[in-house]
Amino acid sequence: MKQIGLSALIAPHSAEEFFKQAWPKRPFVVHDLGQSILPLTQISFLQSLNALLNAWPNTVEVHLPDVSDESSAVDATPQNARKLFSNKMALLFNNVQNISDELQNWLSALRHDLGLPHSTYGRCIVYATPDGKGTAPHFDQNINFVLQLHGTKKWWLAPNESVENPTQRFTIGQPLDPELASYVDAPMPKQMPKDRREIILKPGSMLFVPRGFWHSTEANGEALALNFTFSQPTWVDLFTLALRSRLSLSPDWRELADGVTSRDEQRRLIAQQKLDILLADLVEDLPHWRAADILGATEGDR
Ligand SMILES: [Fe+2]
Repeated sequence: MKQIGLSALIAPHSAEEFFKQAWPKRPFVVHDLGQSILPLTQISFLQSLNALLNAWPNTVEVHLPDVSDESSAVDATPQNARKLFSNKMALLFNNVQNISDELQNWLSALRHDLGLPHSTYGRCIVYATPDGKGTAPHFDQNINFVLQLHGTKKWWLAPNESVENPTQRFTIGQPLDPELASYVDAPMPKQMPKDRREIILKPGSMLFVPRGFWHSTEANGEALALNFTFSQPTWVDLFTLALRSRLSLSPDWRELADGVTSRDEQRRLIAQQKLDILLADLVEDLPHWRAADILGATEGDR
C-alpha cells in the first residue's frame, strides 16, 4: 500500500515515537529514506533544479548575498533565477503544491497526522542552494519538515533561550519585529548559540525543525530540498477567531467604531461609553463559554 504523510517521512520510526520524542518542541532527524518517499522523489520537476526551473510558472524568490536570508530577497523570472543561482544566490520556490496534486495530498495527510487546527497554513517550499552557501542563523514561527532531495546540506541547530513560542521569525543581525520584541525573555544572541548541534542531510534525509529553534545551513555541492511548512495557530488565534465569529452575530458589535479618534472630546467619550457597554455584555456572556464550543466554531465536526 502506498504510504503518505508523517509515517512515510519518519520511516522506520512510528508516529508514536515522533510524538513522544520530538513533537512539537524538539528536532527529529531520519536518514536513508527510500521506498517510503518514492512518490515524492519521483515527481518529475523535482529531479533537478533545471527540471524545476523549466516547469515553474511563477517568479522565484532569490536571496541576496548581503544577508543570505529570506528577509533580503527579490523576485526573478526562472530564466534570471538560473543566472543568479550560478552567481551563488540561493533560490526559494514558494507554494510548490500549486503545481502538484501529489504534494497537495501529502500536505493534507501531514496536517491530519499532526492534528493541526483547520486554520493552519500549509505549503511546500523548494530551496535550491549553491555550493558553499546557506542561510544565516535564524528561527521561524513555522514548523518545517525538510526532505533533502539532491546534494548535501549541513545544518546547525540550537535551542532558543531568548524566547518561547515565537509568533514571528527572526534572523540574527536583523531588526526585531515589534510584537516579538514585546515578549522576549532574554536579549537575542549575536551569533549562533554555542550549544549548536550539527546534522548533515543527504538525499533521503528528513529533518523536523520545530518552531523557534535556531538554525543555520551550508550546502556542500548544489543542494535541493523540499519543505513541508506549517503555520502554528495558537490558542490566541483560535480564541480570537471564535470570539470574532461570536461577536459578529451582534449588530451592535458590527457597528462602526465611530469617533474613537475624533478631535471632539465629547464624541471620544461617547465612543468609550459604547465600548464599555459592549464589554459589559461580553463579560456576562464569557462565563458560559466552553472549549468545546470554541473548537466547534473553529474546527467544526470531524
Ligand atoms: Fe528557517
